[in-house]
Amino acid sequence: MGSKLGAVGPLAGSDVETVLRSAALAPSVYNTQPWSFRRTDHDIELHGDFSRALPEADRDRRELVLSCGAALFNLRAAVHRCGCLPAGTLRPRLDRLSLLAVVRPVPTGTPDPAMVRLASAIPRRATIRGALAKSPVPEAVVGELRRAAEAEQAWLVVLTGAQRVAAAALIARACRQQLEDPGFRTERVRWSGSTRPDGLPGIAEHRRAPVIAGTPDELPLLVLLGSFEDGPVDRLRAGQALQRVLLTATLADLDVAFRSAPVELASARRELRELAGGAVWPQALLELGKGRPMSRTPRHAVEDLLR
Ligand SMILES: Cc1cc2nc3c(=O)[nH]c(=O)nc-3n(C[C@H](O)[C@H](O)[C@H](O)COP(=O)(O)O)c2cc1C
Repeated sequence: MGSKLGAVGPLAGSDVETVLRSAALAPSVYNTQPWSFRRTDHDIELHGDFSRALPEADRDRRELVLSCGAALFNLRAAVHRCGCLPAGTLRPRLDRLSLLAVVRPVPTGTPDPAMVRLASAIPRRATIRGALAKSPVPEAVVGELRRAAEAEQAWLVVLTGAQRVAAAALIARACRQQLEDPGFRTERVRWSGSTRPDGLPGIAEHRRAPVIAGTPDELPLLVLLGSFEDGPVDRLRAGQALQRVLLTATLADLDVAFRSAPVELASARRELRELAGGAVWPQALLELGKGRPMSRTPRHAVEDLLR
């Protein structure tokens, strides 16, 4: 349906479709896909769709904004892949709350080869929902993951042995606390087992308290993506960093599982911040290793995402 979309600046309609489809392949909390797009003659606008917010799991819509940031990173990478540069502004109009970013594809300059490579990993990246097998992660790859976060003005804390033990206990406790909350459970069921083009296929296995326990040597690699401040723009940046880290892991053949419960509960999030040294605001807690391939999550069609 590429030809149905008009051009945006130097991007032909078919490229615009590719770019929007890439954005829509981003991860999102409960696969809510809380975004929509508006194209003008020169720009692509990214809007947050607050009707898809999760009042129980994501009380302050932090993860909604993070998810939109991940979509924005894909959009930027795909613009590079189409041979243009993405000039952009975050939250350009404070009087338009839903407008999270504007991206203007410009034909001048050379696309960044690193972004083009990351764009090639977009269709391959997928969240692992079950347990991960521990897999040694070479120091060089850890360095690449750190630099991926830094390139997007965020920070990746690689948890040390003692921090991993404490974080594993915190994950188990926070998951239990969420599952004891009837409101959380109802919301989770509402977004699970759906036959719609969103939500999580099957039963929401992903929110069962994962068993991560053992000695520091037995525990998987756990990393905390943090931001330096915790406002809306910082969260949008953190979402872009999150996706850059996930795509970097995909290119390195590493699987990633989210362990979000401790960042979703305010008191656990404070504990996690302390545990990780107190310098950054926890935005996403990730486990890296080797997982079993899962069935793919569905996505809305691009035409349904246009405003
Ligand atoms: C901010 C955020 C938090 C997430 N938290 C979890 C989580 O706690 N557990 C989980 O299994 N997946 C989590 N996910 C992954 C989503 O469920 C997943 O991205 C979505 O279902 C789409 O699937 P895909 O990533 O395989 O494309 C999270 C994703 C985002 C962006």
